[in-house]
Amino acid sequence: MSGDVVMGIDIGGSGIKGAPVHIPTANMTVAKRMRIPTPQPSTPEAVAEVIEQILDHFSWEGPVGCTFPAIVRRGVVLSAANVSDAWIGIDAEAVFARTTGREFHVLNDADAAGIAEVDAGAARGVNGVVVMLTFGTGIGSAVFLDGALVPNTEFGHLEFKGDIAERYAAARLVEDKSLGEEEGLEIDVWAARVNEYLHYLDRIFSPDLFVIGGGISKEFDQFSQYIDTQVRVVPAELRNNAGIVGAALAAQRRFFQ
Ligand code: BGC
Repeated sequence: MSGDVVMGIDIGGSGIKGAPVHIPTANMTVAKRMRIPTPQPSTPEAVAEVIEQILDHFSWEGPVGCTFPAIVRRGVVLSAANVSDAWIGIDAEAVFARTTGREFHVLNDADAAGIAEVDAGAARGVNGVVVMLTFGTGIGSAVFLDGALVPNTEFGHLEFKGDIAERYAAARLVEDKSLGEEEGLEIDVWAARVNEYLHYLDRIFSPDLFVIGGGISKEFDQFSQYIDTQVRVVPAELRNNAGIVGAALAAQRRFFQ
């Protein structure tokens, strides 16, 4: 098998998405990825069944790269901030392989998104320290030195403003006008919090670049005016597909190189 195409799957709090990815161009090979709502409760068995449906939909038999929104060390889930506690201590690679009969590489969701941005997006060719942050239900982070990942950094769980950072500045705190929501933070108030958080991270890590990912990154033009760090801050380029693409790239490196 050449490994030119690898399946990427992105497990999130609300949806599980997947598509085959062409590795040399870091592009999905299909126009439409498949998305299935995340089962509630999101137990290992329920999630594994959804993954199997996605693989069957694409008649995929080869290796699979898969993100998970928690700490993942050598395929084993070690935390569960926004998923069922039943995951803690579970070898996700083994569970998915057993259920689906395919070979799996599982990694943290923000690490996967960062790999995609470093390989083919906003951080391509950037040397030095790159910090990717994904703003969604929580805050995910990925740190790179000269393109090499330091996995599972969990900057969303740094103590900040008397709590953990993701409770202060995750994008889920922003009101969603498209849903007619009137609760939650106005985007400028949220952006001011993100700015404080970026200054804090800058003081600790002195990065060369911050990449802002997660669904809200498509509104970057609306909130970038509130960010005044000395470090350059750019929006992610692969947007919603970064997890799928990064998972496939990571699996390709593990299984084919
Ligand atoms: C989790 C991280 C994850 C992030 C984004 C956090 O709550 O601890 O592992 O990357 O959410 O999903």
